[in-house]
Amino acid sequence: MSESYRDEFEAPNRLLLGAGPCTVHPRVLRAMTQPVVGHLDPVFFQVMDEVCEMLRRVFHTGNHVTMPISATGTGAMETACVNVLERGDTAIVCRNGYFGVRLADIAQRCGANTVMVDSPWGRPADLNALEDALKANPGTRMVGLVHAETSTGALTPLLDAIDLAHRHGALVVVDAVTSLGSHEVRVDDWDIDVCYSASQKCLGAPPGLAPISFGERAMAAIDSRSSKVESFYFNLQGVAEYWNQTQRVYHHTSPITMTYAMRESLRMMMEEGIEERHDRHARVAAGLRAGLTAMGLELATDPQYQLNPLTVVNAPPGVDEAMVRQRLLNEWNIEVSGGLGEFRGQVWRIGMMGEGARERNVLAVLAALEVILADAGYEVAYGASVAAAQRSFARHGSQD
Ligand SMILES: Cc1ncc(COP(=O)(O)O)c(C=O)c1O
Repeated sequence: MSESYRDEFEAPNRLLLGAGPCTVHPRVLRAMTQPVVGHLDPVFFQVMDEVCEMLRRVFHTGNHVTMPISATGTGAMETACVNVLERGDTAIVCRNGYFGVRLADIAQRCGANTVMVDSPWGRPADLNALEDALKANPGTRMVGLVHAETSTGALTPLLDAIDLAHRHGALVVVDAVTSLGSHEVRVDDWDIDVCYSASQKCLGAPPGLAPISFGERAMAAIDSRSSKVESFYFNLQGVAEYWNQTQRVYHHTSPITMTYAMRESLRMMMEEGIEERHDRHARVAAGLRAGLTAMGLELATDPQYQLNPLTVVNAPPGVDEAMVRQRLLNEWNIEVSGGLGEFRGQVWRIGMMGEGARERNVLAVLAALEVILADAGYEVAYGASVAAAQRSFARHGSQD
């Protein structure tokens, strides 16, 4: 057996430019070194209230039931489905990528008759097909939509889809794991019934918490369930009794340190301004896209629906995409992600999320890619992609 455990672990200081987690600001890391208090300590209750209040601002909601679930994003997906759905209900899930597939899988595991509305990867959800599915399935309980599909880089505009679902009496569950903090997400104005995210993407904290918000319609549906929620850990009523200021009933031991981290990352977002943060993600993404296309690379996403926090780019034919990622990591200390599902082995997913969404990071990854691709025999004009990004930043007013 290796004896390396005897040495204190020291993590390398990577530049995390993949699909998440993103690089965490030292202020957030510092918050995590605060002493651990008990989960029923009044001091911690104050931290919880502050986190909930800031989450309501980020989600643009007055929803009382807004809090972080002790889990990563997948736990929030399970929380949404297991509370809203009962065995035999119909759920319609729009699948335009890997996370739509996961949401449908979870709905199915909750015992729902799950209808898939598929659209090609790289495109948004198909509203015509959603309408057909709603007409064909009267009484549908839930429509699931992934706002920002992290496997393909596509953003699905939500307003028409939500309106459609509500006209057919269905609740709308929105996955905002990658969009919250980088694109506009307005839970109340857009009338979203359940919306969830994750700490490690554009909110800028480490992985481990998953904010979620339930509107009145969703709460009424949960209150009138005829069967018990089939999960203890993700049973909303139990979780909410702990987060509710007037109850504070123990449900499970809260991840104290993670909650400190989330408080600090949200505080940083409040200082920056939510709109300003969205603008920063847009500015940085425009520079990255300009640089990649100047290098002759093709983007995998429909140009009209491209995400800002994540750009998905096709690896050129003849270039070993995994080798490029390995060299980026080993020689440049930069992590980018490979493809998932249908896109496995074909694309790079370059994330500019949260603290990572900075002009300097665009320049670093472009310069490194130029060198690695040139070594792999791909024709590169050194500096061209960096110059294209610089021009884009100059047009948009670089603020790095
Ligand atoms: C859109 C989307 N939904 C859900 C998830 C699942 O989140 P997690 O990996 O934090 O469980 C992810 C993770 O990348 C995601 O991008």
